[in-house]
Amino acid sequence: MIREITFVKSSPSVETCPEESLPEYAFVGRSNVGKSSLINYLAGQKKLAKTSSKPGLTQLINHFIVDNSWYMVDLPGYGYAKVSKSKRREFSVILSNYLQKRKTLICLFVLIDCRHAPLANDLDFMRWLGENRIPFAICFTKTDKLSSSALNKAVSLYKNTLLKEWESLPPVFLSSTTQNRGKEELLDYITSLNESIGHQS
Ligand code: GTP
Ligand code: MG
Repeated sequence: MIREITFVKSSPSVETCPEESLPEYAFVGRSNVGKSSLINYLAGQKKLAKTSSKPGLTQLINHFIVDNSWYMVDLPGYGYAKVSKSKRREFSVILSNYLQKRKTLICLFVLIDCRHAPLANDLDFMRWLGENRIPFAICFTKTDKLSSSALNKAVSLYKNTLLKEWESLPPVFLSSTTQNRGKEELLDYITSLNESIGHQS
């Protein structure tokens, strides 16, 4: 359970992010996949991170401090076609700089809408993470939108696709903000990582 979470700042670049003094966990994925909603859900607050049915809303690196102990980070979405090309390029520079330079990033959660078959830009992005040795986990979002059998099928299809190019799978989580699914597993995982690096929360 998160006892306290506070917005710290929005940064247009990794250089202007808060000092690298605490472990941090970031959420990334295509626009509209549910990054901000998931952060609000984990936080137990409706309006902490701005959500929108209009994709491309989060365009900055947003830091939230949890229990004065670790950061949760809402990142800009990628791969949304309706944003201009130059804007999209800008997103990816902000993102790739952040991911490559942020020393205190412990784990990146890559969010995937469970209704989507494996998409090239998500797979390319994860390949890039692997090449850059950035630790990540996958979270399939919006599981309320599928029946449990369709969900199982979609998740195994995704895992099998990944196993064609990866030797092993990253940790996989399932979430639904409307059906209250995934909070405990995600927060337990973060706690276990904090403990594994000797950080008490
Ligand atoms: P950008 O900041 O634009 O990249 O989007 P985002 O990834 O932060 O998505 P956001 O959290 O704003 O959510 C996008 C839409 O999906 C909103 O209309 C949310 O209400 C909806 N949504 C998010 N999570 C869930 C979920 O678990 N279930 C359902 N049914 N809808 C969800
Ligand atoms: Mg957002």
